[in-house]
Amino acid sequence: MEKEIFHFFTALVEKVAGISFSPGKEYLVESRLTELALSLGYKDVKSLYQAVIKKGIDHKLINDIIDALTTNETYFFRDYHPFEVLRIHIFPELFKKKVDEKRINIWSAACSTGQEPYSIAMLLLEYFPHYLQNYKISILATDISKKCLEKAKMGIYNQIEINRGLPVTFLVKYFKQEGNHWHIDEKIKRFVKFERINLLEASKKLFERFDLILCRYVLIYFSEEAKKRVIVDLWKMLNSGGYLFLGGTEILAITFPDTIKKILNNTICYYKK
Ligand SMILES: C[S@@+](CC[C@H](N)C(=O)[O-])C[C@H]1O[C@@H](n2cnc3c(N)ncnc32)[C@H](O)[C@@H]1O
Repeated sequence: MEKEIFHFFTALVEKVAGISFSPGKEYLVESRLTELALSLGYKDVKSLYQAVIKKGIDHKLINDIIDALTTNETYFFRDYHPFEVLRIHIFPELFKKKVDEKRINIWSAACSTGQEPYSIAMLLLEYFPHYLQNYKISILATDISKKCLEKAKMGIYNQIEINRGLPVTFLVKYFKQEGNHWHIDEKIKRFVKFERINLLEASKKLFERFDLILCRYVLIYFSEEAKKRVIVDLWKMLNSGGYLFLGGTEILAITFPDTIKKILNNTICYYKK
């Protein structure tokens, strides 16, 4: 892929979504954009680039490019341990702390195709059913990718997706099989509200505050500048007494005077004093 074309598309995605592609990722970018170019009727990425230079670029194409260049890898109960920490430590603590208010706000920021927020919903329904009658619990799940959100909202997964991380007891209890696919139960779906939100704009779009934020395996793809900007915003949107979880390989790029790093069951999370 020509340097100029690589630079054009990656600079666009970095500006809009914060995602940074280092040199060396030309092959990855080219193969993902080739698929997009062909689907739009161009013969290759170069023709797509030439058309953009000539005619300009609209919102739809920007979104298509972002959809093509984001990594959407996810699975149910990803890494297992963080969900054990939620079950054993965090939810019991939050339910206790919120005994007067009886409201808990959860945000799965960068939820991809929905496995993360649905895992949280299943966990709550399975282990804390008695609290659910008295507490108002909301799970907001957001992502920049339209394609991912469409799939997430449907809550329909194929056998390979089901085989990744979902305990069989949960499969039997919370999914219905139709042909080769599994449909998540309405009572799980009801818990989760999906919204399209770019993390770089989240603080301007969301006015609620959260007791638990999961922002996992997305900041690893961001430029240092975007990463810091998002961390500052996430921290602002976290209630005091709340928790932030990042992916297993990620660390908080900035710490604040009210940050306490906790290690629970081999999982790092960040508590806001
Ligand atoms: C690798 S997936 C991680 C999904 C899930 N959090 C997990 O841990 O399994 C990363 C997700 O981040 C989303 N993403 C990338 N840049 C984003 C941005 N600027 N704002 C919101 N979501 C973004 C992608 O669309 C993708 O679905």
